[in-house]
Amino acid sequence: MRLPRILIAPLATLALLAALPAAASAARAGANPQNSCLDCHRALDDARLAAPAKAFAEDVHGAHGLGCIGCHGGDPTDADITSMDPDKGFKGTPARKDIAEMCATCHASAEFMKRYNPQPYIFSMAEFRTSVHCKKIAVGDPKVATCTNCHGVHGMLSRKDPRSPVNRRNVPATCSKCHNPEYMKGRTVPTNQYALYRVSVHGKALLEKGDLSAPACNNCHGNHGAVPPNTRDISLVCGTCHGREGELFAKSKVKAGLELEGKRGCVTCHGNHGVQLPTDALIGTTGDGVCGRCHESGSAGARASDVIVPAFHALKARIGDADSLLAVADRLGMEVEAGRELLKQADDQLVNVRATLHGFDTKQITAVLTEGDGLADKAIAQARDALRDWRIRRIGMALSVVVILLMAGLLALRIRRLERGPGA
Ligand code: HEC
Ligand code: HEC
Ligand code: HEC
Ligand code: HEC
Ligand code: HEC
Ligand code: HEC
Ligand code: HEC
Ligand code: HEC
Ligand code: HEC
Repeated sequence: MRLPRILIAPLATLALLAALPAAASAARAGANPQNSCLDCHRALDDARLAAPAKAFAEDVHGAHGLGCIGCHGGDPTDADITSMDPDKGFKGTPARKDIAEMCATCHASAEFMKRYNPQPYIFSMAEFRTSVHCKKIAVGDPKVATCTNCHGVHGMLSRKDPRSPVNRRNVPATCSKCHNPEYMKGRTVPTNQYALYRVSVHGKALLEKGDLSAPACNNCHGNHGAVPPNTRDISLVCGTCHGREGELFAKSKVKAGLELEGKRGCVTCHGNHGVQLPTDALIGTTGDGVCGRCHESGSAGARASDVIVPAFHALKARIGDADSLLAVADRLGMEVEAGRELLKQADDQLVNVRATLHGFDTKQITAVLTEGDGLADKAIAQARDALRDWRIRRIGMALSVVVILLMAGLLALRIRRLERGPGA
């Protein structure tokens, strides 16, 4: 019996579809059912040729059942050197400029990647293409980073592995392998990022304290962006972690004003790579104070800081006064619990104002300062009350001592009289 011609193509397709699950499950059942590439290369004497196979045991691709051919092509079922025949799709070692596109055959497709990992897929080839790295690869710069400079090659690890070069703790070292004066010799791009970062609050928190909430280079620059965050984005970038400051600043007149001048949000006052722990000395118009840097006297900003700056330092001084008065009362053995509680609340307002400052709204800042003042005044009043009580007690005590001494004196006199006897 001959099949009608019109059925042949659909039937062939059906047969192919029926065979697919079998092939897929075979692949799942034994990862790398056959990988002649690995077997032969592992046994080669030439270290250059054997190293990729030896490192592959730990490779994230190997662990997902992907063989050498995922990147290099060829026929893994052929145990001979002919497995590397270009006719069998073998591509050889990629030239440096072609590596990114080779990885992109899989990694540019979120749909393909989802089959291996249900987690949200973050890598974006489109983002990588916007990076200075990728753009310069395209024009033949041999020194910019491609995928393997940051991730390694054979023996590539997941970013979650603490040994991965892109694990957060290792990122600053990975970037600065190239972003240093020696490697960048002859270029105009600044190379002090790591030196500044290492001693910044962020660098110390991540590298010395192991605080994984502190940013590494990629948390500000993006994993694959490698561009300086642009003017508008900087406060957004910082604001992802410093929510309160970021939110207040976003609505402030300062942000709008700085943008007009072409200056950049947070980094104008804090710096970018070398962010240091801010001190209260920054709130000032002279010396280390930053307010006078932009506000010429007479301007709205200057008039505002002339109100805010002295009020801030006055609150701090008041809190200091309350603290020492309470300490004196405490040393004298008086009850200061309630006063200490008020002082703590006043101190919270001082902390609050350091953040509120970022709205650069005189009314809002003054409100916090006034509340702090009220609490500090109450703490001072409590301390004064305690000291007055102590004085009253001391006068009372002195009086009772006098009375006791008087009584003792009288008693002594009486006793002496008695000793002398009635006849004396
Ligand atoms: C029978 C052993 C054998 C098998 C099987 C084999 N290779 Fe090779 N491979 C070699 C040898 C030997 C060389 C060095 C050949 C040369 O220099 O021309 C080599 C070279 C290579 C190179 C480097 C080319 C270069 O010059 O830098 C790559 C990449 C490679 N093999 C990948 C594969 C892949 C992928 C497979 C499986 C599809 C595979 N090999 C299968 C033995 C083998
Ligand atoms: C994730 C992609 C990927 C996989 C999988 C992969 N390779 Fe490679 N391989 C590369 C890249 C990229 C290079 C070029 C290395 C470079 O430029 O540093 C390379 C280079 C090589 C070289 C040349 C090494 C040299 O120093 O000249 C050999 C040999 C090789 N691979 C063999 C293998 C074998 C064998 C496997 C499987 C065990 C394998 N590769 C799996 C991406 C891959
Ligand atoms: C044949 C498809 C394929 C190719 C080609 C490929 N990969 Fe992968 N890659 C995968 C799959 C599948 C995974 C595992 C899925 C996962 O962990 O999200 C993976 C995982 C990774 C991971 C680990 C992600 C993480 O942190 O968990 C990195 C990094 C990576 N690949 C980089 C590369 C680089 C760099 C290249 C090119 C040199 C490359 N891949 C080529 C398919 C591929
Ligand atoms: C300049 C360094 C650098 C370059 C170049 C680079 N990466 Fe990454 N990559 C990173 C960093 C950093 C991370 C993020 C680690 C983290 O999330 O903590 C990352 C994460 C990844 C992930 C995991 C993201 C996910 O959710 O699955 C994949 C996959 C990946 N990169 C693939 C690539 C590919 C493919 C290329 C080349 C086209 C490439 N990378 C180029 C530094 C780099
Ligand atoms: C393999 C070396 C290498 C590595 C690793 C590397 N870079 Fe680069 N990067 C370069 C080179 C080279 C340039 C181009 C500098 C130039 O000529 O302007 C560049 C450019 C940049 C730029 C653009 C600078 C500008 O204003 O033009 C940024 C931002 C950047 N890299 C960030 C990073 C970050 C973040 C990492 C780590 C996640 C990293 N790079 C890892 C070599 C590297
Ligand atoms: C806290 C955020 C942050 C971190 C962390 C950070 N950067 Fe930057 N980086 C910036 C900002 C913002 C700029 C833009 C500076 C400007 O134009 O005013 C920048 C600019 C750069 C540039 C362009 C040249 C320059 O200095 O202006 C390079 C290159 C660079 N960063 C690399 C790095 C490297 C490498 C690391 C890690 C050691 C790193 N960055 C860590 C925020 C950050
Ligand atoms: C990935 C999150 C993250 C990003 C992005 C980030 N920071 Fe931080 N920042 C932190 C953490 C965590 C600390 C606390 C470090 C410590 O333990 O001292 C910190 C500390 C600070 C401090 C010291 C204040 C304090 O109370 O410790 C300042 C100022 C600061 N960051 C400013 C910035 C600026 C400006 C940017 C953007 C250029 C920025 N940060 C981006 C997480 C971040
Ligand atoms: C006009 C200058 C200026 C700008 C712009 C600025 N800050 Fe500040 N920042 C300060 C001053 C002044 C302090 C207070 C220092 C102190 O008293 O400890 C401070 C303190 C901080 C603190 C520590 C707060 C605390 O509770 O001790 C963080 C975090 C911070 N800034 C982040 C940011 C972020 C994020 C941005 C951008 C959204 C930003 N700053 C923009 C001047 C500025
Ligand atoms: C990097 C420059 C810069 C620094 C530093 C700076 N400001 Fe400003 N400030 C501005 C700009 C720009 C404006 C908006 C234009 C204007 O009103 O002058 C502004 C406006 C203000 C306003 C709003 C004035 C109004 O019109 O209501 C206040 C309040 C203010 N600043 C307080 C301060 C204080 C306090 C400091 C010190 C902690 C400070 N500024 C430091 C640039 C700066």
